[in-house]
Amino acid sequence: MTSVNGHVSKSQQAAQRRIEHHEADVVIVGAGIMGCALAVALGRQGRSVILLENSMKEPDRIVGELLQPGGVHALEMLGLRDCLEEIDSIDVKGYYVSYFGEPVLLDYPKSTPSSASPLGRTFHHGRFVIKLRAAALACANVTVVETKATALVTSSYTQQVLGVECVAKDLKDCYFAQLTVVANGYDSKLGKSYHPHTPTRRSKFWGLELIDAKLPAPCYGHVLLSNSPPVLMYQIGTHETRILVDIPDNLPSASVKNGGVKGHLRNTILPILPESVQPSFLAALEKGQLRSMPNSFLPASANKTPGLAILGDALNMRHPLTGGGMTVALNDVCVLRDLLSPERVPSLSDTRLVLKQLSRFHWTRKNSATVINILAQALYMLFAANGMCLFRVFSSLVPHAYIHSDQNLKALQRGCFRYFQLGYVAGPVGLLAGLIKQPFILFSHFFSVAFLSIWVLFRETPVSRLLLFPFQSIMVFWTACVVIAPYIFAEIWS
Ligand SMILES: Cc1cc2nc3c(=O)[nH]c(=O)nc-3n(C[C@H](O)[C@H](O)[C@H](O)COP(=O)(O)OP(=O)(O)OC[C@H]3O[C@@H](n4cnc5c(N)ncnc54)[C@H](O)[C@@H]3O)c2cc1C
Ligand SMILES: *[C@@H]1O[C@H](CO)[C@@H](O)[C@H](O)[C@H]1NC(C)=O
Repeated sequence: MTSVNGHVSKSQQAAQRRIEHHEADVVIVGAGIMGCALAVALGRQGRSVILLENSMKEPDRIVGELLQPGGVHALEMLGLRDCLEEIDSIDVKGYYVSYFGEPVLLDYPKSTPSSASPLGRTFHHGRFVIKLRAAALACANVTVVETKATALVTSSYTQQVLGVECVAKDLKDCYFAQLTVVANGYDSKLGKSYHPHTPTRRSKFWGLELIDAKLPAPCYGHVLLSNSPPVLMYQIGTHETRILVDIPDNLPSASVKNGGVKGHLRNTILPILPESVQPSFLAALEKGQLRSMPNSFLPASANKTPGLAILGDALNMRHPLTGGGMTVALNDVCVLRDLLSPERVPSLSDTRLVLKQLSRFHWTRKNSATVINILAQALYMLFAANGMCLFRVFSSLVPHAYIHSDQNLKALQRGCFRYFQLGYVAGPVGLLAGLIKQPFILFSHFFSVAFLSIWVLFRETPVSRLLLFPFQSIMVFWTACVVIAPYIFAEIWS
């Protein structure tokens, strides 16, 4: 372990400390999207990093399969763009949205008329993760260990987090660092007692893999909107297409009496799928490899515990309808890498400075995360919610009678779809793609949709009922506020 001039080099010493003493500058729990990207980013800055992962086997999950152009850009900034190659991934040009069978094609917007069209990417989640893990394994300053983190090690004296306790093959072990990062995903128990919020889960995505499905618009993400909660479809490999069907808790058509989830898929979803997709959907349903994942909402919170940073899904989640989670995570890595750079923070043992930077991180990341979070939740509320769903969320805020009516939501849905049809695409899709990062632009589009909805309603109201129109229009506007307000507050006050 000696270098040319006879001295053991600094990074060799660090490697030795990681392996023999389980001690590093940073310990990261979870080698998922967040953990791998962060390990590589910090390792390349010269930090000594230990990355702990429960299972190094290729993950087989129905999550994280569509990366928005904003996320592709973040990967590029991190020098990890090549992780998208050689995994049979597919370019994505935008979205194909169908509203009760009426389609509209929404392209990702170019930043200038002469620039190239931005592209997203779809793939098998596990293949992408394996590539990210390979990048971490290849980084000389990162040591990856297969082990399950069970608890944080804290100083009972200062409350500072000192590291993590792990179990591998029934053997207990500990890893210590100046900064411990909890990035172990949606069901993180480690971060729980350090996060003031708990995830809310009101629906699940049920997933099937279709073989050789013929999508109406290849190379586009498909969103099917109807009386049922939304359905997503995108090709994730040469032959494979993912379909995700949102099923809220207690959905009547998925009740046991109606044949459960399978009954819902066969009786309610099959008929609303494009005809070209139905055969492969039926075949997948017959094969019966149904899988589900909870759709969570978790507002972020500033990390305030010395020695600890909670990141990724463990920090912040939004409904996966808009496929924004990985983009948020990768953007966060870009922000954090700059805020914790050795120039700004010479030693991570300076916990006060680290906490100050983590507080900056909390506010800086909002530019992009706020847009993606609010858009995902608001669109989901708009298109999945029937009166009941909204009612449950806001029952404490608004009198029962007002929200229970579906009509206002339906008016907003129609307005939103008309908005796209009228060609107001670049803004909303740019926001969704993670390309536009100004919350104000999101609000202006959202309220434009509200006013357009009212206009559409006005045009559709027969003269005999025009007297009621002022009341109806106020209710539509009110509903728009009720849809978006809680998520704005969640961003401002957390
Ligand atoms: C149904 C669904 C669909 C989605 N679709 C998309 C999409 O299309 N596009 C998109 O951008 N986002 C999508 N998301 C969100 C996306 O999957 C997440 O935002 C992203 O994976 C978060 O990355 P992460 O690193 O925080 O967590 P994860 O990717 O979940 O990684 C966590 C890692 O920690 C490991 N781990 C867990 N516990 C321990 C432990 N105790 N010790 C050691 N290791 C541990 C796990 O094995 C895993 O490797 C979707 C989410 C859902 C629920
Ligand atoms: C590892 O860290 C050292 C400093 O300790 C740094 O000089 C080197 O560039 C880093 N290596 C990689 C592969 O990033």
